Amino acid sequence: MINASLRIIDQLTTQPDRFHEALEGLTAQKKTLHPKFLYDQTGSELFEQITKLEEYYPTRTELSIMEESLDEMMRLIGTGSTIIEFGSGASRKIRLLLESGLISEYVPIDIAKSFLKESSEQLASDYPNVDITGIVADYTGELKLPQEILDPSKKKTVFFPGSTIGNFEKKEAESFLSTIANLLLPGDGLLIGVDTKKDPSVLHDAYNDRKGVTSRFNLNMLEHLNRELDADFNLDTFKHYAYYNAPMGRVEMHLVSMIEQTVTIGDETIPFREHETIHTENSYKYSIDEFKNLALRSGFLSEAIWTDDDQLFSIHYLKVE
Ligand code: AVJ
Repeated sequence: MINASLRIIDQLTTQPDRFHEALEGLTAQKKTLHPKFLYDQTGSELFEQITKLEEYYPTRTELSIMEESLDEMMRLIGTGSTIIEFGSGASRKIRLLLESGLISEYVPIDIAKSFLKESSEQLASDYPNVDITGIVADYTGELKLPQEILDPSKKKTVFFPGSTIGNFEKKEAESFLSTIANLLLPGDGLLIGVDTKKDPSVLHDAYNDRKGVTSRFNLNMLEHLNRELDADFNLDTFKHYAYYNAPMGRVEMHLVSMIEQTVTIGDETIPFREHETIHTENSYKYSIDEFKNLALRSGFLSEAIWTDDDQLFSIHYLKVE
């Protein structure tokens, strides 16, 4: 039976200027670049490699929690429903849900166009009964979904796995969840994966793997700016630096300039002091109660929480009131 459809909608072209966003971060008192700049084609591929690393426990732990509790999750998601996934990447986790045969429509949203296209096409051929609408967009900006996807007659679940919510500041996480709650209708849900607080050395190793994949992933952000935003970063002069900031409850990733230098982006010149850093990512960790309370403040009800034996990772099913 092949009456399902596949389409890709590119919203990135109409979204705010990435050049100016990068420039703003690089000219700030404390230099920052938003983690979304990690995800061009190469960055998305490198992140896929990270998910398979020995030290990087989140992906395999989340997958095992999903496998363990899949029936329960599917009962909450319901039959014939639509799943909207933010930051779908290689779409490995969604396969577990699509395997159930109960999902009629899947809407992956990702910032990396070619990566989204490839994985959507693969899913369309593997799951011919599922309508797939891939949306190329920066979902950290304004969220605009096509009207037919928001059809109120369909039950919807937003799927936000991988602890990507950890990239948001706590206040932003709360408002992002509120935005999702407003997008949905009472009875709809949010299935979200959240990394937990744990032994700092476990966290440290997860972001400082021995093969140096995380380092390449972080440095690729500069390559991305060189390629797409006309910058001239010399990657040999920057070093990956990641550590767990315990009082803030977050892993921070930085790129440290090992020399005093100037870098250009477009027509702009950016000075760097020796050892000055660009802060490229925060990855907040939440205890189970902490996240549950954040969700409640955002207008959700906590319906179910799953975790692994070592509480390395958690998955929350939240329902719109
Ligand atoms: C995709 C944001 C969940 O924070 O663990 C992996 C990204 N950064 N290694 C994370 C990441 C460095 C990842 N998230």
